[in-house]
Amino acid sequence: MSGFETNWLTLREPADRDARAESLLEMVHAHLSALPPPHVIMDIGCGTGSTYRTLSPALPEAAWKLLDYETVLLDEAKREIGARDNIEFHCQDLNKLDETLFDDVAIVTASALFDLCSGQFCSRFVDLLTRRKIGLYAALNYDGVIDWSVDHPLDKQVVADFNRHQQSDKGFGPALGPDASDHLSALCEASGFTVKTASSPWRLDPETAELQNEFLLGFSRPIHEIGNISDADFKGWLDFRLSHIGVKNSVCTVGHTDILALPRT
Ligand SMILES: C[S@@+](CC[C@H](N)C(=O)[O-])C[C@H]1O[C@@H](n2cnc3c(N)ncnc32)[C@H](O)[C@@H]1O
Repeated sequence: MSGFETNWLTLREPADRDARAESLLEMVHAHLSALPPPHVIMDIGCGTGSTYRTLSPALPEAAWKLLDYETVLLDEAKREIGARDNIEFHCQDLNKLDETLFDDVAIVTASALFDLCSGQFCSRFVDLLTRRKIGLYAALNYDGVIDWSVDHPLDKQVVADFNRHQQSDKGFGPALGPDASDHLSALCEASGFTVKTASSPWRLDPETAELQNEFLLGFSRPIHEIGNISDADFKGWLDFRLSHIGVKNSVCTVGHTDILALPRT
């Protein structure tokens, strides 16, 4: 169980869409347009289908394979997207992949996934892509930078502890967390891919109050588990942060990086 809830994925989808680097989306489009059809896209860790909804309007000819191991999320993806001839849904654990699913795939997409993954998983996965000459568009990898326009003295410590927790096991072995983009880019480059990266930060203003609220509440468990900050100090920080969500001109920036790795022809 990954523990990601439909509600959280629904809340973050508009912020993700705004954050994605447009330049890489255009390059995905150009790459697929230059390939002979069929253009089969495999979205791994698809959740409820956010990447499909973002990319598919510009790619009407593409066929999709949406893969996740959470049946609740896949069922929600099926419900939201509806039955279509050009989409298959696959319930699979990425740690036990059936490689034949990649037989006809032109590009793999993923969003908010690789920071959960381990270095070992990335090596295995990039090896698969290299052998099969499949491109990778991996968007919204958390980069460790969280910044609020209104400061609090505990911000640095909270973010440092949160980032440490991001490197604990999320189901793939020790997670790369904020190191994911650098690690994955380096692996892809070493395997002969042409790699482009672009930053894709969330800029959360008072209009995104519900997302910010959930995001902040999500710090509680990691900070408690790391154990550097007393419960009382953390409560003070959280109360301060929650009370500032709606304040005029306040912005929370959460850093991400998008990666596009294309096989050299
Ligand atoms: C942060 S969510 C992102 C979901 C979606 N890509 C999005 O952007 O809304 C990470 C997703 O990866 C999936 N996931 C995590 N570990 C997985 C695994 N071992 N096999 C398949 N899917 C996995 C989760 O179920 C979840 O849907």
